[in-house]
Amino acid sequence: MRLIEIREGKTSLRVPDFAEYARKGAYDPSRAPVFYNPKMEFSRDLAVLALKSYINKINHNVTVCDPLAGVGVRGIRYAKEVDGVEKSVVGDLNKDAIPIILENVKINGLEEKVEVEHKDANLLLTTHSEPGKRFDFVDLDPFGTPIPFLDSAIRAIKNKGVVALTATDTAPLCGVYVKPCLRKYGAFPLRGEICHEVGLRILIGSAVFASIREDFGVVVLLSYSVDHYFRAYLQLDLGAKKADSSASLLGYLLYCPNCSWRDTVPLSGAVITSCPSCQRPLKRAGPLWCGPLADRRFLQSMMEQDLSSLNTKKRIEKMLNLLIEESGMPPTYYSVDSLSSKLKRGPPPVSLIVQRLKEIGYAASPTHFNPKAFKTNAPLEIIMKTVNEA
Ligand SMILES: C[S@@+](CC[C@H](N)C(=O)[O-])C[C@H]1O[C@@H](n2cnc3c(N)ncnc32)[C@H](O)[C@@H]1O
Ligand SMILES: [Zn+2]
Repeated sequence: MRLIEIREGKTSLRVPDFAEYARKGAYDPSRAPVFYNPKMEFSRDLAVLALKSYINKINHNVTVCDPLAGVGVRGIRYAKEVDGVEKSVVGDLNKDAIPIILENVKINGLEEKVEVEHKDANLLLTTHSEPGKRFDFVDLDPFGTPIPFLDSAIRAIKNKGVVALTATDTAPLCGVYVKPCLRKYGAFPLRGEICHEVGLRILIGSAVFASIREDFGVVVLLSYSVDHYFRAYLQLDLGAKKADSSASLLGYLLYCPNCSWRDTVPLSGAVITSCPSCQRPLKRAGPLWCGPLADRRFLQSMMEQDLSSLNTKKRIEKMLNLLIEESGMPPTYYSVDSLSSKLKRGPPPVSLIVQRLKEIGYAASPTHFNPKAFKTNAPLEIIMKTVNEA
Protein backbone atom coordinates (compact mmCIF):
# COMPACT_ATOMS: atom_id res chain seq x y z
CA MET A 1 0.00 0.00 0.00
CA ARG A 2 1.44 3.39 -1.00
CA LEU A 3 1.34 5.93 1.80
CA ILE A 4 1.48 9.72 1.75
CA GLU A 5 2.32 12.01 4.63
CA ILE A 6 -0.23 14.53 5.85
CA ARG A 7 -0.57 16.79 8.88
CA GLU A 8 -3.53 17.25 11.22
CA GLY A 9 -3.13 19.74 14.07
CA LYS A 10 0.42 19.24 15.35
CA THR A 11 0.56 15.59 14.26
CA SER A 12 2.21 14.09 11.16
CA LEU A 13 0.53 11.01 9.75
CA ARG A 14 1.14 8.42 7.08
CA VAL A 15 -2.14 7.51 5.39
CA PRO A 16 -3.16 5.59 2.25
CA ASP A 17 -2.41 7.54 -0.93
CA PHE A 18 -5.71 9.27 -1.81
CA ALA A 19 -4.93 9.03 -5.56
CA GLU A 20 -4.83 5.20 -5.46
CA TYR A 21 -8.28 4.76 -3.92
CA ALA A 22 -10.46 7.11 -5.91
CA ARG A 23 -13.95 6.55 -7.23
CA LYS A 24 -15.20 8.95 -9.92
CA GLY A 25 -12.14 11.17 -9.37
CA ALA A 26 -12.60 11.56 -5.59
CA TYR A 27 -10.86 9.66 -2.78
CA ASP A 28 -13.12 6.97 -1.34
CA PRO A 29 -11.87 5.96 2.14
CA SER A 30 -13.85 2.72 2.08
CA ARG A 31 -11.66 1.49 -0.84
CA ALA A 32 -8.38 1.89 1.04
CA PRO A 33 -7.05 -1.22 2.85
CA VAL A 34 -6.66 0.89 6.02
CA PHE A 35 -9.25 3.51 6.87
CA TYR A 36 -8.54 7.22 6.95
CA ASN A 37 -11.11 9.88 6.05
CA PRO A 38 -9.73 13.42 5.63
CA LYS A 39 -13.29 14.81 5.82
CA MET A 40 -13.45 13.87 9.51
CA GLU A 41 -10.61 16.23 10.46
CA PHE A 42 -13.19 18.68 11.85
CA SER A 43 -14.54 15.98 14.16
CA ARG A 44 -11.01 15.10 15.27
CA ASP A 45 -10.03 18.75 15.85
CA LEU A 46 -13.11 19.17 18.05
CA ALA A 47 -12.18 15.93 19.84
CA VAL A 48 -8.70 17.28 20.65
CA LEU A 49 -10.26 20.45 22.07
CA ALA A 50 -12.87 18.46 24.01
CA LEU A 51 -10.18 16.27 25.60
CA LYS A 52 -8.19 19.40 26.56
CA SER A 53 -11.26 20.94 28.18
CA TYR A 54 -12.11 17.70 29.94
CA ILE A 55 -8.59 17.54 31.45
CA ASN A 56 -8.96 21.17 32.58
CA LYS A 57 -12.29 20.27 34.14
CA ILE A 58 -11.08 17.25 36.14
CA ASN A 59 -7.62 18.71 36.76
CA HIS A 60 -5.58 15.50 36.54
CA ASN A 61 -3.69 13.46 33.95
CA VAL A 62 -5.61 10.89 31.92
CA THR A 63 -5.38 7.61 30.05
CA VAL A 64 -7.30 7.33 26.77
CA CYS A 65 -8.36 4.56 24.41
CA ASP A 66 -9.06 4.66 20.67
CA PRO A 67 -10.11 1.05 20.01
CA LEU A 68 -11.29 1.54 16.36
CA ALA A 69 -8.30 3.51 15.22
CA GLY A 70 -7.73 3.05 11.47
CA VAL A 71 -4.31 4.69 10.93
CA GLY A 72 -4.33 5.63 14.63
CA VAL A 73 -5.12 9.28 14.06
CA ARG A 74 -7.32 9.97 17.09
CA GLY A 75 -5.32 8.16 19.75
CA ILE A 76 -2.04 9.50 18.36
CA ARG A 77 -3.33 13.07 18.15
CA TYR A 78 -4.52 12.89 21.78
CA ALA A 79 -1.06 11.75 22.90
CA LYS A 80 0.76 14.32 20.79
CA GLU A 81 -1.43 17.41 21.14
CA VAL A 82 -3.07 17.19 24.55
CA ASP A 83 -1.00 17.92 27.66
CA GLY A 84 -1.94 15.57 30.47
CA VAL A 85 -2.40 12.42 28.35
CA GLU A 86 -0.24 9.88 30.17
CA LYS A 87 -1.06 6.90 28.01
CA SER A 88 -3.06 6.28 24.84
CA VAL A 89 -4.09 2.74 23.90
CA VAL A 90 -4.79 2.47 20.18
CA GLY A 91 -6.26 -0.63 18.57
CA ASP A 92 -7.73 -2.00 15.36
CA LEU A 93 -8.84 -5.45 14.22
CA ASN A 94 -7.47 -4.91 10.71
CA LYS A 95 -3.97 -6.41 10.68
CA ASP A 96 -2.90 -4.08 7.86
CA ALA A 97 -3.60 -1.11 10.13
CA ILE A 98 -1.07 -2.14 12.77
CA PRO A 99 2.22 -1.40 10.92
CA ILE A 100 0.80 1.97 9.84
CA ILE A 101 -0.23 2.85 13.39
CA LEU A 102 3.24 1.80 14.64
CA GLU A 103 4.88 3.97 12.00
CA ASN A 104 2.67 6.93 12.93
CA VAL A 105 3.57 6.46 16.58
CA LYS A 106 7.26 6.46 15.64
CA ILE A 107 7.26 9.53 13.36
CA ASN A 108 5.65 11.49 16.19
CA GLY A 109 8.12 10.20 18.79
CA LEU A 110 5.36 8.68 20.94
CA GLU A 111 6.72 5.18 21.59
CA GLU A 112 6.66 5.78 25.35
CA LYS A 113 3.08 7.02 25.46
CA VAL A 114 1.13 5.04 22.87
CA GLU A 115 0.40 1.33 23.15
CA VAL A 116 -0.75 -0.40 19.95
CA GLU A 117 -3.05 -3.43 20.05
CA HIS A 118 -4.20 -5.72 17.24
CA LYS A 119 -7.47 -6.69 18.90
CA ASP A 120 -11.20 -6.67 18.57
CA ALA A 121 -12.44 -3.45 20.20
CA ASN A 122 -14.72 -5.25 22.67
CA LEU A 123 -11.89 -7.55 23.73
CA LEU A 124 -9.50 -4.62 24.14
CA LEU A 125 -12.01 -2.68 26.23
CA THR A 126 -12.90 -5.74 28.30
CA THR A 127 -9.24 -6.32 29.19
CA HIS A 128 -9.40 -2.81 30.67
CA SER A 129 -12.62 -3.29 32.60
CA GLU A 130 -11.09 -4.16 35.96
CA PRO A 131 -10.50 -1.33 38.43
CA GLY A 132 -7.00 0.11 38.04
CA LYS A 133 -6.93 -0.58 34.30
CA ARG A 134 -9.84 1.61 33.27
CA PHE A 135 -9.57 4.69 31.06
CA ASP A 136 -10.58 8.31 31.61
CA PHE A 137 -11.60 8.77 27.98
CA VAL A 138 -12.74 6.23 25.38
CA ASP A 139 -13.38 7.29 21.79
CA LEU A 140 -15.70 5.00 19.82
CA ASP A 141 -15.39 5.91 16.15
CA PRO A 142 -16.73 2.89 14.25
CA PHE A 143 -18.23 2.22 10.84
CA GLY A 144 -21.96 2.89 11.31
CA THR A 145 -23.28 2.47 14.83
CA PRO A 146 -21.22 2.51 18.06
CA ILE A 147 -23.84 0.40 19.87
CA PRO A 148 -21.97 -2.96 19.63
CA PHE A 149 -19.05 -1.41 21.57
CA LEU A 150 -20.95 0.74 24.03
CA ASP A 151 -21.38 -1.68 26.94
CA SER A 152 -17.71 -2.64 26.98
CA ALA A 153 -16.69 1.03 26.69
CA ILE A 154 -18.84 1.90 29.72
CA ARG A 155 -17.28 -0.96 31.71
CA ALA A 156 -13.79 0.30 30.75
CA ILE A 157 -14.46 3.85 32.00
CA LYS A 158 -13.39 5.24 35.37
CA ASN A 159 -15.91 7.13 37.44
CA LYS A 160 -16.27 10.65 35.95
CA GLY A 161 -14.65 9.46 32.71
CA VAL A 162 -15.92 10.28 29.23
CA VAL A 163 -17.25 8.07 26.45
CA ALA A 164 -17.15 9.86 23.09
CA LEU A 165 -19.17 8.28 20.30
CA THR A 166 -19.63 8.71 16.59
CA ALA A 167 -22.62 7.29 14.69
CA THR A 168 -22.56 7.40 10.88
CA ASP A 169 -25.74 5.34 10.44
CA THR A 170 -27.77 8.47 9.82
CA ALA A 171 -30.39 6.75 7.65
CA PRO A 172 -31.81 4.69 10.56
CA LEU A 173 -31.35 7.49 13.13
CA CYS A 174 -33.04 10.03 10.82
CA GLY A 175 -35.96 7.73 10.13
CA VAL A 176 -35.24 6.69 6.55
CA TYR A 177 -35.10 3.09 7.85
CA VAL A 178 -37.24 2.54 10.93
CA LYS A 179 -36.55 -1.14 11.71
CA PRO A 180 -32.75 -0.88 12.03
CA CYS A 181 -33.22 2.11 14.37
CA LEU A 182 -35.51 0.02 16.56
CA ARG A 183 -33.08 -2.92 16.44
CA LYS A 184 -29.90 -0.97 17.22
CA TYR A 185 -31.21 1.81 19.44
CA GLY A 186 -34.50 0.45 20.78
CA ALA A 187 -36.24 3.61 19.56
CA PHE A 188 -38.55 4.91 16.86
CA PRO A 189 -37.01 7.69 14.74
CA LEU A 190 -38.91 10.54 13.09
CA ARG A 191 -38.43 11.47 9.47
CA GLY A 192 -38.70 15.11 8.35
CA GLU A 193 -38.25 18.60 9.77
CA ILE A 194 -36.49 17.72 13.05
CA CYS A 195 -34.96 14.33 12.16
CA HIS A 196 -31.38 15.36 12.96
CA GLU A 197 -32.08 16.41 16.52
CA VAL A 198 -34.28 13.38 17.06
CA GLY A 199 -31.48 11.11 15.71
CA LEU A 200 -28.90 12.67 18.03
CA ARG A 201 -31.26 12.35 21.00
CA ILE A 202 -31.95 8.69 20.18
CA LEU A 203 -28.20 7.97 20.06
CA ILE A 204 -27.65 9.71 23.41
CA GLY A 205 -30.78 8.10 24.88
CA SER A 206 -29.51 4.68 23.98
CA ALA A 207 -26.13 5.43 25.61
CA VAL A 208 -27.94 6.73 28.70
CA PHE A 209 -29.95 3.49 28.99
CA ALA A 210 -26.65 1.55 28.82
CA SER A 211 -25.03 3.85 31.43
CA ILE A 212 -27.85 3.81 33.97
CA ARG A 213 -27.78 0.00 33.90
CA GLU A 214 -24.28 0.32 35.40
CA ASP A 215 -25.53 2.97 37.91
CA PHE A 216 -23.88 5.85 36.06
CA GLY A 217 -25.58 9.21 35.72
CA VAL A 218 -24.75 11.00 32.44
CA VAL A 219 -23.68 14.58 31.76
CA VAL A 220 -23.72 15.50 28.08
CA LEU A 221 -20.64 17.71 27.66
CA LEU A 222 -20.98 18.20 23.91
CA SER A 223 -23.04 16.69 21.11
CA TYR A 224 -23.81 17.63 17.54
CA SER A 225 -24.99 16.51 14.13
CA VAL A 226 -23.07 17.54 11.01
CA ASP A 227 -22.29 16.20 7.53
CA HIS A 228 -23.04 12.47 7.60
CA TYR A 229 -22.63 11.72 11.29
CA PHE A 230 -23.65 12.30 14.91
CA ARG A 231 -21.18 12.76 17.75
CA ALA A 232 -21.63 12.89 21.55
CA TYR A 233 -19.31 13.27 24.57
CA LEU A 234 -20.83 11.77 27.69
CA GLN A 235 -19.34 12.10 31.15
CA LEU A 236 -20.32 9.22 33.43
CA ASP A 237 -20.92 9.91 37.11
CA LEU A 238 -21.32 6.90 39.40
CA GLY A 239 -24.27 6.76 41.81
CA ALA A 240 -27.78 5.29 41.79
CA LYS A 241 -29.38 8.70 42.47
CA LYS A 242 -27.45 10.29 39.61
CA ALA A 243 -28.50 7.43 37.34
CA ASP A 244 -32.15 7.90 38.45
CA SER A 245 -31.94 11.58 37.68
CA SER A 246 -30.58 10.83 34.16
CA ALA A 247 -33.36 8.25 33.71
CA SER A 248 -35.90 10.97 34.46
CA LEU A 249 -34.61 12.86 31.40
CA LEU A 250 -35.43 9.97 29.08
CA GLY A 251 -38.75 10.20 27.32
CA TYR A 252 -40.63 10.53 24.06
CA LEU A 253 -41.01 13.32 21.58
CA LEU A 254 -44.54 14.01 20.36
CA TYR A 255 -44.78 15.82 17.04
CA CYS A 256 -47.65 17.01 14.87
CA PRO A 257 -46.77 16.85 11.15
CA ASN A 258 -49.83 18.98 10.38
CA CYS A 259 -49.10 22.09 12.48
CA SER A 260 -45.52 21.50 13.78
CA TRP A 261 -46.60 21.39 17.45
CA ARG A 262 -44.20 19.30 19.53
CA ASP A 263 -43.40 18.44 23.14
CA THR A 264 -41.41 15.93 25.15
CA VAL A 265 -42.94 13.64 27.75
CA PRO A 266 -41.09 11.49 30.33
CA LEU A 267 -41.11 7.70 29.93
CA SER A 268 -43.75 7.53 32.65
CA GLY A 269 -45.85 10.35 31.11
CA ALA A 270 -49.42 9.98 29.88
CA VAL A 271 -49.62 9.06 26.20
CA ILE A 272 -51.61 11.52 24.14
CA THR A 273 -52.33 10.69 20.53
CA SER A 274 -53.93 13.82 19.13
CA CYS A 275 -52.40 17.26 18.75
CA PRO A 276 -53.46 19.76 21.46
CA SER A 277 -53.18 22.52 18.87
CA CYS A 278 -54.99 21.12 15.79
CA GLN A 279 -56.41 17.76 17.06
CA ARG A 280 -54.78 15.80 14.21
CA PRO A 281 -52.88 12.54 14.96
CA LEU A 282 -49.48 12.95 16.60
CA LYS A 283 -46.29 11.07 15.75
CA ARG A 284 -44.16 9.72 18.57
CA ALA A 285 -40.37 9.30 18.49
CA GLY A 286 -38.14 7.63 21.06
CA PRO A 287 -37.41 6.67 23.73
CA LEU A 288 -34.81 9.42 23.53
CA TRP A 289 -32.78 11.86 25.61
CA CYS A 290 -34.82 14.95 26.55
CA GLY A 291 -32.07 16.61 28.61
CA PRO A 292 -29.41 19.17 27.62
CA LEU A 293 -27.33 18.48 24.49
CA ALA A 294 -24.27 20.28 25.84
CA ASP A 295 -22.72 21.88 28.90
CA ARG A 296 -22.32 25.59 28.22
CA ARG A 297 -19.23 26.00 30.45
CA PHE A 298 -17.58 23.08 28.71
CA LEU A 299 -18.24 24.67 25.30
CA GLN A 300 -16.85 27.99 26.53
CA SER A 301 -13.73 26.26 27.79
CA MET A 302 -13.26 24.64 24.34
CA MET A 303 -13.59 28.06 22.76
CA GLU A 304 -10.86 29.41 25.07
CA GLN A 305 -8.31 26.79 23.90
CA ASP A 306 -5.55 27.70 21.45
CA LEU A 307 -7.07 26.88 18.04
CA SER A 308 -4.16 28.20 15.97
CA SER A 309 -2.74 24.81 14.92
CA LEU A 310 -6.10 23.49 13.68
CA ASN A 311 -6.79 23.45 9.94
CA THR A 312 -10.53 23.66 10.60
CA LYS A 313 -10.24 26.62 13.02
CA LYS A 314 -12.84 28.82 11.25
CA ARG A 315 -15.46 26.10 11.10
CA ILE A 316 -14.79 25.20 14.74
CA GLU A 317 -15.26 28.79 15.91
CA LYS A 318 -18.52 29.06 14.00
CA MET A 319 -19.77 25.74 15.35
CA LEU A 320 -18.82 26.41 18.98
CA ASN A 321 -20.46 29.85 18.83
CA LEU A 322 -23.67 28.30 17.53
CA LEU A 323 -23.59 25.52 20.14
CA ILE A 324 -23.06 28.08 22.91
CA GLU A 325 -25.96 30.19 21.62
CA GLU A 326 -28.34 27.26 21.44
CA SER A 327 -27.31 25.63 24.74
CA GLY A 328 -30.07 25.96 27.32
CA MET A 329 -32.79 26.05 24.65
CA PRO A 330 -35.65 23.53 24.85
CA PRO A 331 -35.56 20.37 22.70
CA THR A 332 -36.15 20.64 18.95
CA TYR A 333 -35.97 23.41 16.40
CA TYR A 334 -38.43 24.94 13.92
CA SER A 335 -37.63 24.93 10.22
CA VAL A 336 -38.42 28.28 8.62
CA ASP A 337 -39.20 26.60 5.29
CA SER A 338 -41.66 24.23 6.90
CA LEU A 339 -43.47 26.96 8.89
CA SER A 340 -43.52 29.34 5.90
CA SER A 341 -45.02 26.75 3.61
CA LYS A 342 -47.77 26.11 6.20
CA LEU A 343 -48.39 29.88 6.20
CA LYS A 344 -48.25 29.93 2.37
CA ARG A 345 -45.59 32.65 2.28
CA GLY A 346 -41.89 33.02 1.49
CA PRO A 347 -39.38 32.15 4.24
CA PRO A 348 -38.13 35.14 6.28
CA PRO A 349 -34.49 35.15 7.51
CA VAL A 350 -33.82 33.14 10.66
CA SER A 351 -31.97 36.10 12.21
CA LEU A 352 -35.09 38.27 11.91
CA ILE A 353 -37.35 35.71 13.59
CA VAL A 354 -34.82 35.20 16.40
CA GLN A 355 -34.57 38.96 16.91
CA ARG A 356 -38.37 39.47 16.95
CA LEU A 357 -38.93 36.60 19.41
CA LYS A 358 -36.29 38.04 21.73
CA GLU A 359 -37.86 41.50 21.46
CA ILE A 360 -41.14 40.15 22.79
CA GLY A 361 -39.43 38.43 25.70
CA TYR A 362 -38.83 34.84 24.57
CA ALA A 363 -35.54 32.95 24.39
CA ALA A 364 -34.56 32.23 20.78
CA SER A 365 -31.43 31.21 18.87
CA PRO A 366 -30.24 29.83 15.55
CA THR A 367 -29.23 26.16 15.62
CA HIS A 368 -26.28 24.18 14.28
CA PHE A 369 -28.73 21.45 13.16
CA ASN A 370 -30.00 23.50 10.25
CA PRO A 371 -29.02 27.00 9.03
CA LYS A 372 -32.66 27.61 8.11
CA ALA A 373 -34.08 26.78 11.54
CA PHE A 374 -34.29 28.28 15.02
CA LYS A 375 -34.95 27.26 18.60
CA THR A 376 -37.24 29.07 21.00
CA ASN A 377 -39.32 28.64 24.13
CA ALA A 378 -42.22 30.62 22.61
CA PRO A 379 -45.55 28.80 22.18
CA LEU A 380 -46.52 27.71 18.67
CA GLU A 381 -49.15 30.42 18.12
CA ILE A 382 -46.57 33.15 18.91
CA ILE A 383 -44.03 31.48 16.63
CA MET A 384 -46.52 31.35 13.74
CA LYS A 385 -47.54 34.98 14.27
CA THR A 386 -43.90 36.07 14.39
CA VAL A 387 -42.98 34.18 11.20
CA ASN A 388 -46.06 35.52 9.46
CA GLU A 389 -45.28 39.11 10.36
CA ALA A 390 -41.50 38.92 9.72
C1 LIG B 1 -14.47 4.53 10.86
S1 LIG B 1 -12.99 3.63 10.98
C2 LIG B 1 -12.03 4.49 12.17
C3 LIG B 1 -11.59 5.81 11.77
C4 LIG B 1 -10.61 6.47 12.68
N1 LIG B 1 -11.07 6.53 14.06
C5 LIG B 1 -10.34 7.85 12.13
O1 LIG B 1 -10.70 8.88 12.79
O2 LIG B 1 -9.82 7.91 11.02
C6 LIG B 1 -13.42 2.20 11.88
C7 LIG B 1 -12.23 1.29 12.18
O3 LIG B 1 -12.67 0.23 13.02
C8 LIG B 1 -11.99 -0.96 12.65
N2 LIG B 1 -12.80 -2.06 13.17
C9 LIG B 1 -13.99 -2.53 12.69
N3 LIG B 1 -14.47 -3.49 13.51
C10 LIG B 1 -13.59 -3.60 14.55
C11 LIG B 1 -13.58 -4.37 15.72
N4 LIG B 1 -14.55 -5.23 16.00
N5 LIG B 1 -12.54 -4.20 16.56
C12 LIG B 1 -11.53 -3.32 16.30
N6 LIG B 1 -11.50 -2.57 15.18
C13 LIG B 1 -12.53 -2.70 14.31
C14 LIG B 1 -11.86 -0.88 11.16
O4 LIG B 1 -10.77 -1.68 10.71
C15 LIG B 1 -11.62 0.63 10.95
O5 LIG B 1 -10.25 0.92 10.91
ZN1 LIG C 1 -51.18 19.93 15.22
